[in-house]
Amino acid sequence: MTIAVCPGSFDPVTYGHIDIIKRAAKIFDKVIVAVLVNMEKKPWFTIEERTEFLRKVTEDIPNVEIVGFEGLLVDFASACNANAIVKGLRAVSDFEYEFQMALTNNKLNSNIETVFLTTSSENMYLSSSIVKQVGLLGGDISPFVPDCVKEGILERIKQRSSLK
Ligand SMILES: Nc1ncnc2c1ncn2[C@@H]1O[C@H](COP(=O)(O)OP(=O)(O)OP(=O)(O)O)[C@@H](O)[C@H]1O
Ligand SMILES: [Mg+2]
Repeated sequence: MTIAVCPGSFDPVTYGHIDIIKRAAKIFDKVIVAVLVNMEKKPWFTIEERTEFLRKVTEDIPNVEIVGFEGLLVDFASACNANAIVKGLRAVSDFEYEFQMALTNNKLNSNIETVFLTTSSENMYLSSSIVKQVGLLGGDISPFVPDCVKEGILERIKQRSSLK
């Protein structure tokens, strides 16, 4: 059985992530979406909220599992018996960092390959940060995230503005 781990912060999940997860699920028997528990960047959504959004938006893909993780990615992947780490590549801007991570991970555990899937052209500009930024500025975020995620973002924006 082939197993892939798709890691990320997913704060929150966008159509860009969903596309990568769906495509990975066609290639591998099982895809484990690994949600980073402790992020350096201050997340808008808790690990439970980020995980719940991912569960909802992937419920129609049977071979996808969502789990939280902390610590070293290769250790997590190895504990899952994963063959590969799957990452999406958007633009040249992703490349240098991802290349460095892939080489480092390979040095730490050469049994786990990093596989890059090229972004779909319609998602190449999309990131969680840009969606939050557009939302904060009052733009329509429906083209970027599923409805349940959109509601969550709008709710969070309301809470933030009432705190000010
Ligand atoms: N639009 C996209 N197309 C392809 N891959 C993507 C896209 N958005 C995210 N990914 C991939 O998903 C994985 C997890 O990314 P991450 O959780 O950092 O999302 P992000 O959208 O970049 O969020 P942030 O803006 O907070 O950095 C990474 O491998 C990233 O390259
Ligand atoms: Mg990112």
